[in-house]
Amino acid sequence: MGLGISAMAWTLAMQDPGTTPAGAAQRKKGQNAGKGGGRVYPMAKSAWDVASVLLGAPTDKSIAMTIHPRKDLEAFLEYGPKGGKQVKSEPKTYRAGVPSQLALVGLKADTAYGYRMHFKFTGEPDFATGPEYSFHTQRKAGSSFSFLVQGDSHPERLNKMNVPELYERVLNSAVKQKSDFMICMGDDFSIDTMAEHNQKSIEGAYTKQVPYLGLVGNSAPIFLVNGNHEQAAKVNLNGTPDSVGVWTQTARNRNFSQPAPDGFYTGNSEEVKHIGLLRDYFAWTWGDATFVVIDPYWHSEVAVDNTLSGGNKRRDLWDITLGDKQYQWLKKTLSESKAKYKFVFAHHVHGTSRGGTDIAHLYEWGGKDQRGVNVFAQKRPNWDLTIQQIFEKYGVSIFFQGHDHIFVKQELNGVIYQSTPVPADSSNPLYNADAYRTGDKVSGAGLLKVSISPEKAKVEFLRSYLPAQEVDGKKHFETAYSYEVTPKEKTNEK
Ligand SMILES: [Fe+2]
Ligand SMILES: [Fe+2]
Repeated sequence: MGLGISAMAWTLAMQDPGTTPAGAAQRKKGQNAGKGGGRVYPMAKSAWDVASVLLGAPTDKSIAMTIHPRKDLEAFLEYGPKGGKQVKSEPKTYRAGVPSQLALVGLKADTAYGYRMHFKFTGEPDFATGPEYSFHTQRKAGSSFSFLVQGDSHPERLNKMNVPELYERVLNSAVKQKSDFMICMGDDFSIDTMAEHNQKSIEGAYTKQVPYLGLVGNSAPIFLVNGNHEQAAKVNLNGTPDSVGVWTQTARNRNFSQPAPDGFYTGNSEEVKHIGLLRDYFAWTWGDATFVVIDPYWHSEVAVDNTLSGGNKRRDLWDITLGDKQYQWLKKTLSESKAKYKFVFAHHVHGTSRGGTDIAHLYEWGGKDQRGVNVFAQKRPNWDLTIQQIFEKYGVSIFFQGHDHIFVKQELNGVIYQSTPVPADSSNPLYNADAYRTGDKVSGAGLLKVSISPEKAKVEFLRSYLPAQEVDGKKHFETAYSYEVTPKEKTNEK
């Protein structure tokens, strides 16, 4: 395929909330759609007031994007290699509040691109020029680059675990890192505290994040890891299109461009009725690193953590599983990767509980039950290795998790377990520290930045502060903790 723009083959099985009277009223008020516990999350002040652009699923020759216009627009894109020939797409009409997905195709591998939107509002004669954004196509082996990891942003915990002003500051600082992408660890679109669950309220959990994640996502593609509060889970299907499972996964895939298996990405190829491809687990290689995102929520027959209604949590954690297909894919992905670094991302070890290596010996992750008895062969008769054993055998450098809202670095048989802090809690928190019996725990909120080079991967905890907190030597995005990992010697032992 030549250079150009391809409209994504995208079937929406839902009414567009932007066309509903409530959606129009919210736009009129200049508010961000959303009904997290009855509070309205404020609009990001520094977001471009014309549109948010969220990049996703970059490859060696393409990148996807979701354009979220705030007003009715006619617009085209001008893009090309930095300093090289720029091309223009055909103008297209965009509607306020209606996300539109497209892909730039025919790009050159390992190349920095710039792009900008030219736009005019309905009835205006001339196109105006939007800000210039950038992205990078897949790095070749031996390159240096960085990526960002954001823990549970929890915007529904307004002014407690998430202070909007600080969240905005974090994301504006994030884009300045010029990282190739950002991975969000889940609990970014909580819907279980909502008073009502319907297509529109669930869509609001996604659209309220758009102007925020767009601050970094305009230049660093966003990858989403599924969390427990998303309730994007098999247990929330009911066989009809009107279910929380369908609404939430559809909102996810409609507002954010997430990867599907396509020759560059591997992942979940199974379609779910009324949704299509879930795009919940996937893997890709970038430079010297292989990235693997996994998800238990869509593959367990029970509620993995909290139920939607707030009822009892499940009791037998053997019921929580990646499922046979994802397990085999995970093993194949890690065993076949010859990358120097392998990073795995999940919301949490078991999708629930607290702690990192502290609970890694349990259930399908480690094979033992609560009494310490190894019952793996009986509980997972078709699996030859536990998940931790796969990580050890095939040289996973770091397993990243969210859920516990704390920075902790631990290690288990050569595999680092990295728990990620929340980005925007101004109380200098140290949540759930008691669940971690070992490792280095560091207080505060912020992001992780991982800088990769052929010799080493450096992980930094960039701690966030509000301007008023920058006293006594504290500085926003200071490195609160850092460490390095070197390539594993044996990376593809069978
Ligand atoms: Fe969580
Ligand atoms: Fe969380």
